[in-house]
Amino acid sequence: MSTPTTLITGATGGIGRALADALHDHQLILAGRDADKLRALAEALPNAHTLTLDLHHPETFADALQDLGVITNVIHNAGVVDLGRVAEQDADVWTRTLAVNVVAPAALTRALLPQLRAARGHAVFINSGAGLRANAGWGSYAASKFALRALADVLREEEAAHGVRVTTVYPGRTDTDMQRKVRTQEGGEYQQDAYIDARSVAATVRFVLHAPRDADLTDVTVRPGVR
Ligand SMILES: NC(=O)c1ccc[n+]([C@@H]2O[C@H](COP(=O)([O-])OP(=O)(O)OC[C@H]3O[C@@H](n4cnc5c(N)ncnc54)[C@H](OP(=O)(O)O)[C@@H]3O)[C@@H](O)[C@H]2O)c1
Repeated sequence: MSTPTTLITGATGGIGRALADALHDHQLILAGRDADKLRALAEALPNAHTLTLDLHHPETFADALQDLGVITNVIHNAGVVDLGRVAEQDADVWTRTLAVNVVAPAALTRALLPQLRAARGHAVFINSGAGLRANAGWGSYAASKFALRALADVLREEEAAHGVRVTTVYPGRTDTDMQRKVRTQEGGEYQQDAYIDARSVAATVRFVLHAPRDADLTDVTVRPGVR
């Protein structure tokens, strides 16, 4: 099998960096907003290119992706969260959250589909436990992740005939900057030992991408384990 080319969004984040490490033997396209951070990350990896992409601007995707050549896999990993009750959270937060967490993955998938079809590739969506259960205080984020699950389910049905595989991964609380922000907003202590190591989420995604073609791993839930 030739070396797959894998595009990772949110590559500079906690799970994103772990994904880049776990997939170091792929040709990597590390996508993110901060060119300096991306460059530093790519320098430490043998086969990595960088792609500056602000997910708030889907109108830039087609141009940005133009010269990338074959892409086998895309991992939609970038995401944002802001906790707040429906009674308090204003429309800007909802718009921003849905734009990054759902609209951008849909638009990016659309732009990449010719390559994914040609490669009979794989789209992986990093969802969340909040994409399966919506709890008080998590409205905008849970709504975005429920919608992301719908996007993945629809895409799986639509693209099966082209050989494109689609997987949703639902991590629980994972030790990253996003979880630090969540715990601050919840007013709770940061309990690193109670959370999933980002490397374990990344290893799960690697397992999904490398599953033999007769095994379609459509939905994978990763919960914090008892140590
Ligand atoms: N950590 C958890 O407990 C947890 C649990 C379940 C699911 N998840 C999901 O896992 C994924 C990764 O989260 P993480 O924990 O690794 O969070 P993180 O460390 O905060 O990383 C998030 C990444 O998304 C990028 N991003 C945000 N807005 C962007 C935009 N407009 N354009 C381009 N990139 C943007 C960030 O880039 P910048 O650095 O430029 O902001 C960063 O690289 C997310 O989808 C999240 O919802 C996380």
